Amino acid sequence: MSDLYNIQALNETISSFDTLQLLQWAAEYFSGKVTFATSLGAEDQVITHMIAVNKLPVKVFTLDTGRLFPETYDLIEKTQARYKIRLNICFPDAVEVEEMTSSKGINLFYHSIENRKHCCAVRKTNPLRKALEGNDMWITGLRREQAVTRTGLHKLEMDSLNGLLKLNPLIDWSEEQVWDFIRENKIAYNTLHDKGFPSIGCQPCTRSISPGEDIRAGRWWWENPEQKECGLHK
Ligand code: ADX
Ligand code: SF4
Repeated sequence: MSDLYNIQALNETISSFDTLQLLQWAAEYFSGKVTFATSLGAEDQVITHMIAVNKLPVKVFTLDTGRLFPETYDLIEKTQARYKIRLNICFPDAVEVEEMTSSKGINLFYHSIENRKHCCAVRKTNPLRKALEGNDMWITGLRREQAVTRTGLHKLEMDSLNGLLKLNPLIDWSEEQVWDFIRENKIAYNTLHDKGFPSIGCQPCTRSISPGEDIRAGRWWWENPEQKECGLHK
């Protein structure tokens, strides 16, 4: 499907676009076939705000792994109420979860990297694949500065794993820019961000960090930085 598009030509078209222009372009060009993945993180709240306030026809979904923090569920509610939008909340396949937890345990991810990747596959990447079906583009809140695994990212990429284009409209934003935008626009954010959680994923795999620690140090803290991707972004 993404083979239908000439990435080089598209990259030329969008080279001078700012974040809002990128979102407007994506909504128009990929009309009806573009979807935004939000984890309700700070970056994602910036994008949701731009989509909602500008009434852009972009579908918004979140992957509910079943292991999220209560604060994240609260923010889903708050965001839907504030913008009068509905997030499509995608669940993992119940049978896959049951098979995994009955054979490897409910907290399997602490026992090995292989187990952790298995859990992320069942609870995140398999549901992601389903959520992306029928779309030509998905949008993420990835930033280059977030991690060593993300320094080589581009604004527009081919996601060959899922067979569609991927747009990262905040790719060049700094953390400071994200928070300035949130404050200026009074955007609701996850209350855990004020308690030492700059990056928030599933509750059992996220801890708070101390001042000076890397912003993703609290994610899968028992693994090496080079391995800390759950498979959503390969
Ligand atoms: S993760 O791969 O380590 O979990 P991170 O939390 O940094 O990713 O988020 C990066 C981007 O991935 C988010 O901006 C969002 O687009 C997408 N994403 C991450 N988790 C989810 C989720 N649970 N549901 C939907 N999108 C998500
Ligand atoms: Fe499972 Fe942890 Fe991955 Fe969430 S982050 S899907 S709980 S291993």
